[in-house]
Order: sequence, then C-alpha cells, then structure tokens
Amino acid sequence: MSEDRPFTVYRRLMAMIWPYRGRVVLIILLTLVASLATLLIPWLARRLFADAVREARIGRIDLLLGAMLGLMGAVSLAWYLAESQLAHVSLRLVETLRRRVADKLLRLPVAHFARTSSGDALGRCFHDINRLRTFLNHALLSLGGDLLLAIGSVGFLFYLSTRLTVVLLAVTPIGVLTLLITSRRVRRGYHAAQNQMADLTGVLSEQLGSMPAIRAFGGEEHEHRRFSAQSEQLFDQTLRTDRQQAAARSTISFLAAVGVVLVLGYGARLVLGQSAGGMRIEDLIAFALYTALLADPIRRLSRTHYEIQQSLASGRRVLELLDWPQQQDLGTRSLPDFPLGRLCFQSVQFSYRANEPVLHDFNLTIEPGQTVAVVGPSGAGKSTLSMLPLRFYEPAAGRILFDGIDLRDLKLADLRRHIGWVGQDPFIFSGTVAENIAYGSWGASREVIENAARQACADSFIQSLPHGFNTRIGERGVDLSGGQRVRLAIARVILRSPALVIFDESTSALDTETETRLWSEISHWLSGRTTLIIAHRLATILDCPRIVVLDQGRLVGDGTADQLRRDCPVFNRIFQQQMNLIPQ
Ligand SMILES: Nc1ncnc2c1ncn2[C@@H]1O[C@H](COP(=O)(O)OP(=O)(O)O)[C@@H](O)[C@H]1O
Ligand SMILES: [Mg+2]
Repeated sequence: MSEDRPFTVYRRLMAMIWPYRGRVVLIILLTLVASLATLLIPWLARRLFADAVREARIGRIDLLLGAMLGLMGAVSLAWYLAESQLAHVSLRLVETLRRRVADKLLRLPVAHFARTSSGDALGRCFHDINRLRTFLNHALLSLGGDLLLAIGSVGFLFYLSTRLTVVLLAVTPIGVLTLLITSRRVRRGYHAAQNQMADLTGVLSEQLGSMPAIRAFGGEEHEHRRFSAQSEQLFDQTLRTDRQQAAARSTISFLAAVGVVLVLGYGARLVLGQSAGGMRIEDLIAFALYTALLADPIRRLSRTHYEIQQSLASGRRVLELLDWPQQQDLGTRSLPDFPLGRLCFQSVQFSYRANEPVLHDFNLTIEPGQTVAVVGPSGAGKSTLSMLPLRFYEPAAGRILFDGIDLRDLKLADLRRHIGWVGQDPFIFSGTVAENIAYGSWGASREVIENAARQACADSFIQSLPHGFNTRIGERGVDLSGGQRVRLAIARVILRSPALVIFDESTSALDTETETRLWSEISHWLSGRTTLIIAHRLATILDCPRIVVLDQGRLVGDGTADQLRRDCPVFNRIFQQQMNLIPQ
C-alpha cells in the first residue's frame, strides 16, 4: 500500500463500518438533531432581545427562556444517545479488527516470524487499533453534527448581515491554507513516531525474551542504553510533531479571534449607523453568538482532520498487517486416516536469503516405518531439513513428497496432522499438564492422556507434581526442567499418533543416561512409524540402521555407523570428537 493513497485506507476502513450502518445512521441523525437544536438557541436569544427587551413584552421572557431550556435539554439528550451508540460501534469495530489481526498472525507463514520482531505485530494489534477507535469516536460525532453546525451558523450569519459575514469569512482561507500545509507534515511525523514506537516495543520484547542471557553477560547497562536511546528518539519525534500540531491549532484559534474582533468592531459601527447598511442591536448579539458557535465546530473539525491523518497512518499499519501474504494452502488432496509415512526429498534447494543456499540438490527417501538419523556439524542445515516437511518454509526448487504426494497438493492441516515434530526447545502452553499433552488432540480422554504420558516416560515425574496431571504449568504455573518439557512434548506427539515423527535434537537438554533411557523406552512406540532423528549425541543413534550425514547443505554420507566411519570423513571426524569427549 503506497503511503500517499489515504483514500484506499479510508475506503477500506469505511467498508468495515458498513455492517454497523444502521447505528451509524442513527448516530448521525442524533448529532444532526443536536446541532439543529443548538442552532436555534441564538435565534431564540435574538427574539428574546427583540420582543421582550426592546419591545418590552415582559410576558414572553419566561416562554422564550423555557423554550431555550427545552432545546438545551434536547441537545444534551441527543448527545448522550449518540455517544452511547457510538461507543458500541467503535468498540465492536476495534474488537473485530483485533480478532482479525490475531487470526491473521496465526495464518502467516512460520517464516514470517523469523524475520520480524513481535513488537511490531503487538504495536499494530493494540496501539494502532486503539488509535482507530479514538478517530472513529471523534470523526463520527464531528462529521455529521459539526458540519451542520458550521454550515448552519454561516447561513444564519449571512441572513443576519451579509457585509459582516463577508468580513468574517475573509480570514477563513488563511486558516484553511494553514491547515492544509501543516496536515501533511503532521501526518508524516505521526507515522514516523508510530514506527519508532514499534521499534521500541520490539526492543522491550526482545529484552523480555532474553533476560537470563542479558543478566549472565552483564548486559543491563547496555540494554538500558539501547532502550533509552530508542525511547529518546520517540520522545523527540513525538514532541516535534505535537509542537507542529499545537502551532497550527493556535494559529487557527488566533485567526478566529481576529475574526471576532473584526466583527465586533465593524458591527458596532453598523449598529451605531456610522456605516451604510445599519444593523439592529439584537442582530449583532445573535451574530456574535453564531460566531462563537462557529468557532467550536471549526476547531473540532480541524482537530478531527488531524485525527484522521493520524488514524489513517494507524489504519494503514493495521491493513498492511491484514494484507501480509498468508501461508499458501492450495492443496486439495487429503491423506487417509492411516497414511504410510513415506517421506521423499527430490532435488530440494532451499535458502532463507537469496544467494545463500542452505540445502543444495538434496535427495533423500525414507521408507514407511524406517528410522533415519541425521548427523552433521552445526549450521549444516539439519533443523532446516526437519522443518521443511511441515511446510514452515517452502523449497526454492525440487519437491518434497509425503506418501508420494507433493506437499503443496496436500491440505496443510492434513499434512501437519500426520507429522509429529519435537523441536529443540519444546514449548509449554499455559494450562495444566493434561491440557498440555492433549494440545492438538482436543477432547482426548484422561485415560489416553495418561497412557501417552506413560509411553513418553513422563508419568513418574507428573505424579510427583503437586496436583499430578492437573498441575498448572507454563505461564503463572510450575516451572519444568528441560528434560520434563521434552517428555511432555513427546507425550503430546504420541497422543496424536502421527505416521511420521521428526525429532530435532529434542533430547539435547537431557543427561546422557536419561536420554538413552528415554530413547529405549519410546522405541516400542516408534517402531513401525517413519522416524527422522536429528541427533545431538552420536551415542544415541550409533546402532540406527541408517544414518545420513549432512554437511554444508549437502548429503555427504548414507549408511550404517560402521560404513560411514570408513567412507565418510565428516562422520568420522564427528565420531572421533564425540568419543573423545565422552569416554566410554
Ligand atoms: N531463520 C533463518 N534465517 C536465515 N538463516 C537461517 C535461519 N535459520 C537458519 N539459518 C541458516 O541456515 C543454515 C542452516 O541452519 P540450521 O538448519 O539451523 O542448521 P543446523 O540445525 O544443522 O545447525 C545456517 O547457516 C543458519 O545460519
Ligand atoms: Mg539445528
């Protein structure tokens, strides 16, 4: 979306209000009624002066005062109703947008989150959406009512005295010009400030995510300076823009004051008959009242104008997020309930960044039920390889087949349903232990949950937790050790009973003894399932019948450990290193 197409943003935002058009019409009608009633009040005041004071018809004073009071009551009531309707519309809109943004985030490709800071999305979801609400509140109340008030006042002014009105309006173009010149600058300024706010949020969210590392390396001062510098920039930018806006506002107020002085000066002369086209005193009083009435909507409309500028910037950021390309899910083919789990990489090329290939012409077929271990130096591309079958990333060339079907032809949910993946840092959701295991197997019974835990060797530690399977873990819950997390993550996968299981150094947090025990205990469950194990320690996979070696994105070895020690220098080197490190 180009920065200079506010109209598109505006039209799309308006389209979101469309479902609430009934209420919006009601709000506009109410503000119109309020403005109309307001317009009549100076007119009554004029009558009051003409009939009651000048022509000494005292009996009508009470009647006119009563009418004025009634009108003011009607104005207040109409405003109240309009504002409460408005609260409903704007809150609902904000809530819908927030939900759409959150939903969109869940549909973006996983690759997206490797590139952007979470602060950026957070800023758009909360700060920008709230700003849209403020805008809506002012804009909707202003646009109907204030416009009518301004136009109506000018109409009455003309009726009361054309000459005076012309004098008054002579200063208006200067105000409009000021408004136009400054609005563009202010809009840019606020856009820049919002980007800086997102950057600042990003810094904080990064810091929150890496507290232990910051503390361990004594990075407090450094991080504080980093935050302060960013915060100071945001301060400067916002201050500059606020000042520009204040300057423009004050200029407009001053121009209005000049208008009033001109009116009173010239009007007084008209009344005193010193100038041609004389004027009655009650007309001048009404004129002054209408002039005062005019100042308010103009000031509000000009503020609304700024708010529109700001909220267009926010609206653009929110819409931009909604426009981010989501994960392609064009596949139409389904998998049977019990797929075989054959996985096949055919000439797969992959790179995160252009011209930095991570996998080169990678070929590998894993037969149904086969277990394949992948080893290789760090940075070889093992984790990348483990994520490609889930379509977290898409190969640049070549294809990946699951049971002979190109992944892109499969329904994404179907594909992921049949792959169990345990990454390096198993994630714990906030909830109970049982809920964590049943994540992705919604509605699983307690019995099967406990069974899965047993197969993942997790039940003994779970029993020792304060409330067993009902212990709350994750955020605001009991903290688990790395090994306990892994076992929960494995139980979660076991419960889903996938045809293909992928472990990416999942057990690296365990000590060797626990690791070995865990593998031997889940080996029964693994048998018959296609398994890809990315090994952290060679010791755990040495007797695996098939080991493939990955080095710098290329497959450089494929065989048993004994064959590889003979034929594959990369494997042999890793073997030597690890056997020296871990004396047997
Ligand atoms: N999200 C990413 N963006 C850019 N480059 C990445 C990303 N993840 C990994 N890489 C790069 O890809 C290469 C392979 O990484 P990875 O698959 O994690 O290797 P391994 O798991 O074998 O240690 C490395 O050079 C790494 O720097
Ligand atoms: Mg890795």
